[in-house]
Amino acid sequence: MILPIYAYGQKVLKKKAKDVDLDDPGIKEFIANMWETMYNAQGVGLAAPQVGKSMRIFLVDTVQTMKKGEESKGVKKAFINPEIIEEWGEEWSYEEGCLSIPHLRGDVDRWSDIAIRYYDLDGNEYEEEYDGINARVIQHEYDHIEGKLFTEHLKPLKRQLIKRKLEAIRKGNVDADYRLKFVV
Ligand code: NI
Repeated sequence: MILPIYAYGQKVLKKKAKDVDLDDPGIKEFIANMWETMYNAQGVGLAAPQVGKSMRIFLVDTVQTMKKGEESKGVKKAFINPEIIEEWGEEWSYEEGCLSIPHLRGDVDRWSDIAIRYYDLDGNEYEEEYDGINARVIQHEYDHIEGKLFTEHLKPLKRQLIKRKLEAIRKGNVDADYRLKFVV
């Protein structure tokens, strides 16, 4: 089932999300709905707060972004109750966007390397390292479950420039190819 995506201005996007109970029988279906919602909106990542649930769950599929023949360099999985343990390497800038903030993009500096601990649907625990675009998307989605949006990473001048656009989104004055849920 495709879920509406909560747009900029929704309080759930500003909340630090809580760990989920892996024995909760509803989690499997919820995650299946999240995948469907993410692909319908042509996203490479989606976090539970973006569909209105303050839960520590996010999905990433960077396989879609890889060149033909290099699909194995991508990551496609659901991260449940994740914790970024460490970030290191070099800070690099890349233009990001977000399904909750349609048609708005901006350069964000992030560390190149991360170590993350998380669970899968069967309750198995993993500890893995990622870099490049994989780390980038994971960091963006991880921010969502910490109640943070990429716009908060933008430089002061850029933040000033996008203020009106953000206000327009908050008020529902924006179009997208997928269903959005606005505050009003
Ligand atoms: Ni996002």
